[in-house]
Amino acid sequence: MILVTGVSGALGGLVLAGLSAIDGLEVVPGTRSGDGEAARRIDFDDPATLATGFQGADVLVFVSAGYAEDDVVLARHGAVVEAASAAGVRHVIYTSLAGSGDLMSIALPHRWTEARLAAAPFDVTVLRNGLYAELLAGFAAMAAEQAAATGVFTASLGTGRVSAVARQDLADAAVRVAAETWRDLSAGGRSRHAGKTYDLEGVTALGGQDLADAITGVSGHKVEYRPASLADTREALTGIGLEPYQVTHTLSLLSNIGAGVLEAHGTDLTALLPGEPRSVHDLITETLLSLKHSA
Ligand SMILES: NC(=O)c1ccc[n+]([C@@H]2O[C@H](COP(=O)([O-])OP(=O)(O)OC[C@H]3O[C@@H](n4cnc5c(N)ncnc54)[C@H](OP(=O)(O)O)[C@@H]3O)[C@@H](O)[C@H]2O)c1
Repeated sequence: MILVTGVSGALGGLVLAGLSAIDGLEVVPGTRSGDGEAARRIDFDDPATLATGFQGADVLVFVSAGYAEDDVVLARHGAVVEAASAAGVRHVIYTSLAGSGDLMSIALPHRWTEARLAAAPFDVTVLRNGLYAELLAGFAAMAAEQAAATGVFTASLGTGRVSAVARQDLADAAVRVAAETWRDLSAGGRSRHAGKTYDLEGVTALGGQDLADAITGVSGHKVEYRPASLADTREALTGIGLEPYQVTHTLSLLSNIGAGVLEAHGTDLTALLPGEPRSVHDLITETLLSLKHSA
């Protein structure tokens, strides 16, 4: 049986949908709000739910739960590794952070988790996910109205660019790895993906002017990109009531984009997808168009 954690989330939901559409797989959803019938209750903050919830799972799709301070995330992820070991899970597929993100503040819990998994008694596949294109689309969407009105799109992206991936492509890659792992285990062997780490970086890198151009294309108003300082963005993010760790991680992301280190120079994504990765430009344009039509 394949157990998918975090199915109420965007990525976990897409992975569950993809696996559920494949004939012959036994797939079980896990989520914090699970009632034990439609879905198992899987709360990384409550190890008792893991001891029960992981029972009978051969393959665990472990979706990271990174929205918290590092100490909380380490405790959560450590509890998953311990419970999966105790429950006799045979193969864990972990959704991690792309290699280009090594200098980001969120890298620490991801790399710590990868090390814990590597020392565990089960086989592991690490899916190092690139930045969701939906996040960039969100940045553009939040600023679109003001940018169209003023002709200026302001963000702390410096002159760097980031390689982004459609979340659906990351889900499709996870579905393929999980389904093939299940088939390999069912045939009495180990997964062909055992011990592999896949860097699922985007094939398209975008920066501030690319987002400004997307706003221009949808609004019909010429928009130029103007970099904002990190200090101004820190003040703005703090002012809108984000948790302190969210400010830290967002600033770190922007700082890494500005420094140019999130532009990838290779990817395993194309090898895991049946066709070309989805167009990040189209995804951003569609997001801006849907915003325009709902206004
Ligand atoms: N690659 C990127 O650009 C990027 C960006 C942001 C975050 N991430 C990471 O990727 C993960 C999935 O992204 P997403 O877009 O699906 O996020 P999302 O829609 O915000 O969903 C959050 C996820 O975290 C899970 N979660 C939170 N606390 C949990 C806990 N105590 N125990 C078990 N699960 C818990 C949720 O599971 P349930 O609600 O179903 O229990 C849900 O799957 C995030 O959690 C984060 O670690 C990646």
